[in-house]
Amino acid sequence: MSDRESLFKERYGKWALIVGASDGIGAALAEVAAQRGLNCILVARRAQKLDALARQLQNDHQVDVKALALDLTSPNARNTLVGLIGEFDIGSVFLNAGGDTLGARLVDADPDAIDALISRNVLLLTHLVRLFSKHFIDRDRGGLAVIGSDSALNGAGRISVYSATKAYALNLVESLWAELQHTGVDATYFVIGTTDTPKLRNLLTARSVALDAVNLAEPHMLAHWVMDNLSNGPTQVFDVSPDSMDPLTSPQARRTRVARNTDIIDFFFGDLSPDPTLLASLKSGRSWK
Ligand SMILES: NC(=O)c1ccc[n+]([C@@H]2O[C@H](COP(=O)([O-])OP(=O)(O)OC[C@H]3O[C@@H](n4cnc5c(N)ncnc54)[C@H](OP(=O)(O)O)[C@@H]3O)[C@@H](O)[C@H]2O)c1
Repeated sequence: MSDRESLFKERYGKWALIVGASDGIGAALAEVAAQRGLNCILVARRAQKLDALARQLQNDHQVDVKALALDLTSPNARNTLVGLIGEFDIGSVFLNAGGDTLGARLVDADPDAIDALISRNVLLLTHLVRLFSKHFIDRDRGGLAVIGSDSALNGAGRISVYSATKAYALNLVESLWAELQHTGVDATYFVIGTTDTPKLRNLLTARSVALDAVNLAEPHMLAHWVMDNLSNGPTQVFDVSPDSMDPLTSPQARRTRVARNTDIIDFFFGDLSPDPTLLASLKSGRSWK
């Protein structure tokens, strides 16, 4: 094993928790985690798919794999997942489950389905991110990855609630990243666009659109990119050049703003003393631009 591989294992092992692992990006994340020597806990609703993937990963990569069939919208989801902390030495969490479940205009969307989407993408996500961060801080290392979407960067008709939950997760992770500085714990939000997952394939097929008519990212390529960039938070955007300074999508531009705004907020709620540059930016009213 190379030094790089053992560092990865040391930092993010022994176990990786992959939430939404039965197909697509989540299954690819599990496969790449296993390739890199992490034991995996696979979570999703379809037990058969999880069991088959668990067998495959064990055979191909000689790691331990546990399959946990769970509906993330069920009332016991949070306690079940957080309870894993006491059972396994979890060093990384990949929150992938998060696709749109409404496919409707806001005024037409089913109220119970809205609640379920918000409960999975906002409430559960917030508590998991918080509790696993605490766990990682206690052990001085660990990594959290949230699979996001370019729908987080602006709204769009027929995906209002989905897009809003993705934007929520983006700001949550960027803020958490700022709070985790100097802890040895990583948190990164990964912005992706159209990707070749079964869910998207089904949508395209239902519309009689050929797969090669759309630019689709390949899940394993995304999974490697996620693993390689766990410590490059707060935000990574697939296919954006590291040198880009576009304010919306440049990882560097976003990182600079998050750090800067954190200094300003520290001035109000933390223990940063008022420094002339900060005061000048507050006075000019341009601090958040
Ligand atoms: N595909 C794209 O083009 C695309 C584009 C931008 C962003 N994304 C993001 O990429 C991520 C994955 O998207 P996806 O297209 O693969 O669809 P998805 O609906 O998020 O499904 C991904 C995984 O999550 C699991 N899952 C979904 N709801 C669950 C629930 N209530 N309880 C337990 N597990 C659940 C699914 O397995 P089970 O059905 O077995 O439960 C599957 O393994 C999402 O966060 C999405 O926002 C995708």
